[in-house]
Order: sequence, then structure tokens, then C-alpha cells
Amino acid sequence: MITKFKTIDSENIDLKIIEEAADILKKGGLVAFPTETVYGLGANGLDGEACRKIYEAKGRPSDNPLILHIGEREQLNIIAEEIPESAQKIMDAFWPGPITIIFKKKSIVPDSVTGKFNTVAVRFPSNKIARSLINAAGVPVAAPSANISGKPSPTRASHVLFDMDGKIDMIIDGGAAHFGLESTIIDVSTGVPTILRPGAITKEMLEEVVGNVDVDPAISGMGNTDAAPKAPGMKYTHYSPNAKVILVKGSKDNVIESINNFVCEKQKAGFKVGVMTTDENAMFYTADAVLSLGKYDDQEEIGSNLFKILRKFDFLGIDIVYSEVFQEQGEGAAIMNRLKKAAGNTFIEVI
Ligand code: TXA
Ligand code: MG
Repeated sequence: MITKFKTIDSENIDLKIIEEAADILKKGGLVAFPTETVYGLGANGLDGEACRKIYEAKGRPSDNPLILHIGEREQLNIIAEEIPESAQKIMDAFWPGPITIIFKKKSIVPDSVTGKFNTVAVRFPSNKIARSLINAAGVPVAAPSANISGKPSPTRASHVLFDMDGKIDMIIDGGAAHFGLESTIIDVSTGVPTILRPGAITKEMLEEVVGNVDVDPAISGMGNTDAAPKAPGMKYTHYSPNAKVILVKGSKDNVIESINNFVCEKQKAGFKVGVMTTDENAMFYTADAVLSLGKYDDQEEIGSNLFKILRKFDFLGIDIVYSEVFQEQGEGAAIMNRLKKAAGNTFIEVI
């Protein structure tokens, strides 16, 4: 299959390209498109066969359900059986935007979207290209992140091309994804709203709107529970480059000294070694690649660079990456959640 690659300016959307892409979706094909979180791999969300192609292109386990994306809020009524008051408040505050809500589903939603679940994940993105594509297709669009399963999510169209060239019908390049981390997922289908995946809409922001919010225990700690996460996708090793990622935690001086020692050791053993750090510390390291995620206190910058930098280590042929750890409050919860998964929850403590 030849994958078409089209560029769209989000401030001046070329409707001809949108129509062409929407046509592909209507005919059961796959189109990757930008959202404000990461790039999505879209199919007609009401066409079970088209959704199955997504699993094939990504190499995604079939028990991992998809998110349906809507272009207008009214589209929610087609797919959600029940809209609890808490969901209403969350939608009023944060939609369109980087938060996915789990609802009881209507039977129109195919099994290949939701797997064995009687719930459906719904997101209303704010990205203008995403919305105009969904509206032109006229159906909810099923879209996981447009990466090969297990790899870091794509935050640029070039990442999608690298993973999906020849496997899908079209890629729309709409520039860098704004947030760079996938949406927050919140389950409102049972009792207290529960965060199943942390993202740019933080627990603190949600609590201001709906009061008490829980976090799925399977994702809140550093591997301190055996419980299966409620979002099936969170149980897989994820976001990991080919390089092995090792987190190093402790006081600043110890971390820098230890990482430099580890790098030296591994280089002697013949490995290409990278360090992932912040602007403040980058100058203290020597390695085959020292890459900064940005300023330590700028969580937005760190979040938006994380997947790009993880992919860059692969591009540079790095075998092992030693990474500092980052703040966990606010958006830091999402950053550290992804980083721990990239590292398979292994870290070295050097207090
Ligand atoms: O920001 C995002 O959410 C991006 C963009 C493209 O919108 N999409 C995304 O999709 O991250 P994906 O497929 O990579 O992650 C979806 C997550 C998976 O962990 C999946 O298990 C979970 O959502 N999920 C989907 N439906 C669910 C359901 N009914 N109940 C619980 N978890 C669900
Ligand atoms: Mg994903």
C-alpha cells in the first residue's frame, strides 16, 4: 500500500485534503491525523471491519479497546448510553480538550472498538484539523495513538511515517502535537470518578470541578500493586524505545555522579549510551548522546518533548538510556507515568 502524506496548515485548513481523507474513512480505510495530545490512527468508529485494520497496522493486542473521537458534543448521544452528572461537569470544563471519558456504551458501537467492555471511551479533541476531519467523515472516529504498539506515541507526522509507512492510506501532517502526552482517561461509569491514565488534565484540576477523584491504584505507584489496570492499555510495556531505559533517582549530585559512572562502565562494555536530563544538568554529563527535555520546572515543555526525545535515542542508535526522574505533581504525574512504563518500572536509587 502507498501511504499518502499531506500537509495541512491548521490556521488555513485545506478542505480538499480533508474531504479526501474523510472519503478514505467512509470507505473503511485508515488515516493518521494530528490531535492536541498525540497523533491518532483513525478509522470509521462505527465500522467494525475498519477498526480491526487498526489493530493489524499497529500490531495491537485485540483486548485493548479504542477511543472514539467526536467532532461535536452532540455526537456523544449516538454512542453513550448514559451521561452522569459528573461527566457533564467534566465536559463543560474541559471539552473540547485532552481528556477522554468512559461511558456506558450503546449497542451501535462495534465490539472491535470496545472489546469485552460494556463501556466506551470518548474524546472530543480541540485540534481544528482533527475536528474538521471527524465532521467531514460524519461518524465518530476510532483512533489510538498512531505508533506501532509498545513504542512511544507519535508527536510529529514524521514519527507516524516512520512507524506506519506502507500500512495505512494517509497521514495528515498538522505540525507538532501541542501537549505531546496522551489524554487523561477518567471513568465516570461507576461511583467516584477514577483516573485510569494521567494526562494534561490533572487530578487537581478535576477535583475542582467534581470533588473527590480517585486514581486507579494500578497506575498510581511504582509497581506497588498486582491489580490489573482498568484501562487495559496501561498493563502493557509501553512508550519504550528500542534502547533500554533506566531511571536513576536520588540527590542531584549523586544522580549525576552515578549516571556518569554507569555510562563509563557500559561504554567500556561496548554499548552506545545516552542520558536523558534537563537543561540545568545537561552540561554535567558525558555520554554518546546527552538529550535535555527542557527546563526542570517547565512541565509543559518536558511533557511535550518526552516521546520525541525517546524516539531520538533510537534514531541515534543508542542501546541504553539513563534518565533522571522528574517532578510528580500536576502534569508531572503523566510524565512520570509514561517514563516509568518506558523503563518497565525499573529504577536505581542512589541516595
Ligand atoms: O490522547 C489520546 O487519548 C490519543 C489521541 C489519538 O486521541 N489516543 C490514545 O489512544 O492514546 P490509545 O489507544 O493509544 O490509548 C487508549 C487507552 C488504552 O489504554 C485503552 O486500554 C483505554 O484507553 N481504553 C479504551 N477504551 C476503554 C474502556 N472502555 N475502558 C477502559 N479503558 C479503555
Ligand atoms: Mg497508545
